[in-house]
Amino acid sequence: MSAPALDRPESGIDDRVALDVADLTVELRTPSGTVRAVDHVSFRARRGETLALLGESGCGKSMTAQALVGLLDPIAAIKEGSITLDEVDLVTAKESTRRELAGTQLAIVFQDALTALNPVYTVGTQLAEPFRIHRKMSKKEARHEAIELMRHVGIPEPESRVDSYPHQFSGGMRQRLLIAMAVALSPKVLLADEPTTALDVTVQAQIMALLHRLRTEHDMAVVLITHDLALVAEQADRVAIMYAGNVVETGPVAEVFGNPRHPYTKGLLDSVPVSTERGADLKSIDGTPPDLHSIPAGCVYQARCPLARARCVSERPVLSGTGPNRQAACHFSEEIDNV
Ligand SMILES: Nc1ncnc2c1ncn2[C@@H]1O[C@H](COP(=O)(O)OP(=O)(O)O)[C@@H](O)[C@H]1O
Ligand code: SF4
Ligand SMILES: [Mg+2]
Repeated sequence: MSAPALDRPESGIDDRVALDVADLTVELRTPSGTVRAVDHVSFRARRGETLALLGESGCGKSMTAQALVGLLDPIAAIKEGSITLDEVDLVTAKESTRRELAGTQLAIVFQDALTALNPVYTVGTQLAEPFRIHRKMSKKEARHEAIELMRHVGIPEPESRVDSYPHQFSGGMRQRLLIAMAVALSPKVLLADEPTTALDVTVQAQIMALLHRLRTEHDMAVVLITHDLALVAEQADRVAIMYAGNVVETGPVAEVFGNPRHPYTKGLLDSVPVSTERGADLKSIDGTPPDLHSIPAGCVYQARCPLARARCVSERPVLSGTGPNRQAACHFSEEIDNV
């Protein structure tokens, strides 16, 4: 089964597309058999825009990100699909080409800055590394770039802090350091996997503002990976909603949230408070996502869906157009207002 191509422009080439992921499928070898953690996931990220990958914990967001940057766990492997960056498919490219492209054009910021930074090297040494490896700079030049980078991401007194170790920075400052490393070589695409989940609300807002500024200055595409619907509403231009390894709905954030076309999206929206409706009843979605070992043959959402019926059990819906630039994977999208 293969989902139709996503978001293709009506005609011509969209040269703002920086990353084109099509039918990405990742399987995991577990003691009790092979499971599919990412199933024909497709999305496109454009320069100057933020695309959110939104979904509950365990739906395959991080696995998707790890597949993109070539950091999958040894028990996981890409089984199908393409990851096109700079007209090169990273899945089939030579390892040296993939490394060079993924190392310079595609950067990732993880949730946990402390484990992502090496505790035994100064931040200056770590920030200088991309310049040493990819730009072949001398130690002195690279150190200068590291200091400038620290300044660029808002770290005070970079000349004296460049020789400090990661544990000597606060959580928010460490996240700034990770972001600095990520944007060092001006990548076209920045993946941010739950970049603010470990931070308090004020620092979260500062980090999101920083990402927004850098996105504009570097004309990057940002892929914001999160379980936080409010963050998506505030920060993203487009959203791809994931459930059990599948993208179930995608489109511009305002349209998808204003007029959802998939019962899961509707369920998610009904389960968060709307500021103008304080005190209104919140409905949580009954049940839990399926275990990866027992993903049903038909629709992945069938066990929790109020609209489910025989066709949903026998036939997997594919993403298909529900409006301009919008897709949902549901046989009965048009009945959503009855949910
Ligand atoms: N090393 C692993 N071994 C077995 N299962 C894993 C491993 N890593 C992830 N998984 C499973 O793969 C699925 C997707 O995980 P992940 O991509 O981390 O989800 P998310 O980032 O959306 O929370 C989950 O069901 C998770 O339990
Ligand atoms: S295909 Fe069926 S089970 Fe799946 S979301 Fe649509 S109505 Fe619900
Ligand atoms: Mg994750």
